[in-house]
Amino acid sequence: MAVALLVAAGSGERLGAGRPKAFVVLAGRPMIEWSLDALRAAGIEEIVVAAPAGHEVEGCVTVPGGATRSESVRAALAAAPPGDVVVHDAARPLVTPEHFTAALAALADADCAIAAAPITDTVKEAGGDRLVTATLDRTRLWAIQTPQAFRRDALERALAVPDEVLAQATDDAWLVERTGGTVRVVESSPANFKVTTPYDLEIAEHLLADRLPRPPAA
Ligand code: CTP
Ligand code: MG
Repeated sequence: MAVALLVAAGSGERLGAGRPKAFVVLAGRPMIEWSLDALRAAGIEEIVVAAPAGHEVEGCVTVPGGATRSESVRAALAAAPPGDVVVHDAARPLVTPEHFTAALAALADADCAIAAAPITDTVKEAGGDRLVTATLDRTRLWAIQTPQAFRRDALERALAVPDEVLAQATDDAWLVERTGGTVRVVESSPANFKVTTPYDLEIAEHLLADRLPRPPAA
């Protein structure tokens, strides 16, 4: 069975909740708990969490996060037992067990497999002067999410780079791409969005309230 690296060490500047984002209460429990539930429902029990100093997560190996997201992934990988790996952002609490199993299954013929939603907006390129220079072919574009699954050796190779390279990575799949590995997209849904702003938190609160167990009817 695969091991999970759950990255939760960010400070949540853009959310501005006064505490690290993964530990902000969302629909009655710390945000990170929603991802832990989905991982366990997918049968993934070995979970390493990269957390901010002073935050332990019960039932998981907890390691201190790094200065950047990919440094947090590298720190978590160093503490992970053997096996293929699935990396997930604690900031995506709407993830489902199927997102994890689908990404891991797609490793059968790729070094890396990443959850991705088809782009629905038209995407254009513009210069510093805001003049449009190109309209991109939307049928070939994907908005990339986590989970991202990796063959263990591919992720180890991808992360064995200087911190300056890690700092440029907005996802870990890019690190595999630049070392020549194969990366496959696995269709996901826009519902697996990342909580970044207070507006996102409000939407997530509504959506997750529906997943809470209901009290028995009187
Ligand atoms: N993350 C991490 N270590 C870091 C930076 C980010 O583990 N040094 C994690 C976050 O906890 C989050 C995920 O990476 O689960 C995606 O990052 P992001 O949404 O940018 O979260 P924050 O960095 O916390 O938010 P902000 O950029 O607004 O401060
Ligand atoms: Mg960040």
